Amino acid sequence: MEIIKTVEKLMEVAVRERAAGKTIGMVPTMGALHEGHLSLIRRAHKENDVVFCSIFVNPVQFNNAEDLEKYPRTLEADVKLIGDLADYVFAPSVEEVFPVAPTEVYDFGTMANVMEGAARPGHFNGVGVIVRRLLEWVRPHKAYFGEKDYQQIAVIREMCAQCRILAEIVPCPIVREPNGLAMSSRNRRLSAHEFETAANIHRILEASKQCKSVPEIQQFVESEIAKIPEFQLDYFEIADAKTLLTTDTLNNPNGVMGFITVYVGPVRLIDNIKYR
Ligand code: PAF
Repeated sequence: MEIIKTVEKLMEVAVRERAAGKTIGMVPTMGALHEGHLSLIRRAHKENDVVFCSIFVNPVQFNNAEDLEKYPRTLEADVKLIGDLADYVFAPSVEEVFPVAPTEVYDFGTMANVMEGAARPGHFNGVGVIVRRLLEWVRPHKAYFGEKDYQQIAVIREMCAQCRILAEIVPCPIVREPNGLAMSSRNRRLSAHEFETAANIHRILEASKQCKSVPEIQQFVESEIAKIPEFQLDYFEIADAKTLLTTDTLNNPNGVMGFITVYVGPVRLIDNIKYR
């Protein structure tokens, strides 16, 4: 595996691999890698001749300075974990990616303005800015993203449609800790007690599958979350799996998902569940 620091080198290598007829898989990450990321990289490795993994804590997708500052940066350990699963790791500086502050403003439609879009103004615009650059520089055949950030995948698909980026976007299932907590780089900021408590998020969502209607699910999840003193619910929405707009029926033809965001102490965790 080769570590690349500059955009020029990244593009040169990607063009060379493409010209040699290789299929290219790309896994964009912000580092602090865990089994969830590794599952994406392994899949990319299995499905492509060459794999690029990027490690870049993208400042323009953070709407909270403290969150950006506290985001774990563990490049050396990340590179070790990746080992030979990726052929290239792109780990640029902020100045390399943004020689000037980016000014692009996207309109990804209503789907990007609900849930994470509403809770974190500017977040999805920042995701669009970085993912577009990465995909245009590498031009992978396939790009892999985890379904924990389900709404992010919808936004990235929309960005690709608007910007005529032809990479196939491959969604990959959530990977969980043995206690059920969705894997996240933020989990390492939890105390041992918070880590165990946080497992209740998934437990409650799973239990809510027994409910018979949207209002019943809503009421059940909100009241169960409220019982746990360490939890502060940011939102729980039951939404159409395609449009991501709230739905009041489980008989929605596009499928129905539950999306939750909970503060466990100062750490903001997200998860989701498929109902139909
Ligand atoms: O999901 C993430 O880790 C980030 O949002 C991504 C897609 C790497 C863009 O910075």
